[in-house]
Amino acid sequence: MARHLITSAIPYINGIKHLGNLVGSQLPADLYARYLRGRGHEVLFLCATDEHGTPAELAAAKAGKPVAAYCAEMWQVQKDLADGFRLSFDHFGRSSSEQNRKLTQHLAVKLHENGLIEEVTEKQVYSKADGRFLPDRYIEGTCPNCGYEKARGDQCENCTKQLDPTDLIAPRSAISGSTELEVRETKHLYLRQSKMRGKLDGWIDSKTDWPVLTTSIAKKWLHDEGGLRDRGITRDLDWGIPVQFEGAPWSGMEGKVFYVWFDAPIEYIACGAEWAEAHALDDAAWERWWRTDKGAENVRYTQFMGKDNVPFHTLSFPATLIGSGEPWKLVDYIKSFNYLTYDGGQFSTSQGRGVFMDQALEILPADYWRWWLLSHAPEGGDAEFTWDNFQMNVNKDLADVLGNFVSRVTKFCRSKFGEAVPEGGETGPREDALIADLATRIRAYEAHMEAIDIRKAAAELRAIWVEGNEYLQAAAPWATYKESPEQAAAQIRLALNLVRLYAVLSAPFIPDTAARMLAAMQTQDAGWPGDVAEALAHLPAGHAFTVPDVLFAKITDDQREDWQARFAGVRA
Ligand code: MF3
Ligand code: ZN
Repeated sequence: MARHLITSAIPYINGIKHLGNLVGSQLPADLYARYLRGRGHEVLFLCATDEHGTPAELAAAKAGKPVAAYCAEMWQVQKDLADGFRLSFDHFGRSSSEQNRKLTQHLAVKLHENGLIEEVTEKQVYSKADGRFLPDRYIEGTCPNCGYEKARGDQCENCTKQLDPTDLIAPRSAISGSTELEVRETKHLYLRQSKMRGKLDGWIDSKTDWPVLTTSIAKKWLHDEGGLRDRGITRDLDWGIPVQFEGAPWSGMEGKVFYVWFDAPIEYIACGAEWAEAHALDDAAWERWWRTDKGAENVRYTQFMGKDNVPFHTLSFPATLIGSGEPWKLVDYIKSFNYLTYDGGQFSTSQGRGVFMDQALEILPADYWRWWLLSHAPEGGDAEFTWDNFQMNVNKDLADVLGNFVSRVTKFCRSKFGEAVPEGGETGPREDALIADLATRIRAYEAHMEAIDIRKAAAELRAIWVEGNEYLQAAAPWATYKESPEQAAAQIRLALNLVRLYAVLSAPFIPDTAARMLAAMQTQDAGWPGDVAEALAHLPAGHAFTVPDVLFAKITDDQREDWQARFAGVRA
């Protein structure tokens, strides 16, 4: 038994996530957490909302709400959807927590003490009407490149040219519309990441088992032109973690907050502290996961994220932790993902294109989505969601293979032997062969799960389900029954035990269905199979069961066409 710390990239607070976001971090993290718990390991699985920064402020303004109230509301919405998808976080925290404020400020002080923070004076746009400095994207004006009148200070949405606020023609505040803008000097804190290049390089080099997708992105950032640049970690915003606080080793930073990408990953740790508080545990409870001087040296820490997040997790966040000089637990393995595309294009939050988490649960139960998304996880490259493929896979894998097996076995038994595991008869070479095949496949499944090769694990699980169907087809207990009810009884006894075994093995992918299968088999025992022959003798003759309702309904052509049309356009 080992101890596993698992984190999923923490989703931005502004708005409901689409299925591409879900399969890019939270869902695979949940699969891994459930698998490891199923194997009896101790797991702490953390996620949270990423609440600071301009996107949160802008979304709140758009919703006409104070930003704190907006975030509290959206946290609940995201929490409910996470529950709906059965994401089994031990805690779903908030980067706006008190714990994160304290820890972020603490780490900034440590970095300062270690000579890794530099105060830099910069020229920045100040709005007199708003009484504040304006971040780049809070300044609007005419694009010097294409003449678009609503270009933002960081980029023109129309021609995509990257801009500097001073490039804009007729600049104005995006908050008040005021044109009374002036350039003033202001101070910001920079993290001197460049000083840590050697250390980070060595650390990345030691990660020989990381996927190439992860290390190549990190190496590119470390070595490409400019190398690892020092990075501003403060911003002129109201909403965020204050830079000027009691005991801060700098002055004159009133009205500034830490940059969202500085405090967001720190929330992984703070979330542990929130978890402890929520369960009335002391600090030692979370520190044994996060401090290598307090037990975390025996923890294996795995992070899940989309590939756009990799630089922050391989370089910036480790720079913060290593630079602090304190014994924080560093990540052991990073699992990163490509993108899921939607019906020939991109999922898009800003354009409302694709299926979003709330909509998905409105039309089908979580397990349908979990199965399709995980078995098509964008691991080797981008993956595409199409309704045809979704319909085909759900109907084949879930309804025809797994659902049908459970239904045939339980119904046949009920009609011939009643609703209890039948007794009598003996198994023979056919069953021995099945057991041997299953043993090989289950060990392969475990290996894929441990390597977090999600598609391969899904394919192996499907093959394990198929073995049951093929066995049933070949053994044909309905035919056997006519000659030898005893032998049919032995076959069905094995098959009923397979239902329980499938529930245990499938639970990480389709937890609700697995629970229904166990309930139908009237057992709580979800112990992971060691010896397969033993596992298939688990439910003894005479053990009562019930025939479950249809596990998976097939998706009809009408439904598919209906949904395809409904989600083709822009989200209302
Ligand atoms: N909110 C970011 C995103 O959705 C992820 C932040 S991950 C963390 O892309 F490391 F900052 F926590
Ligand atoms: Zn332009």
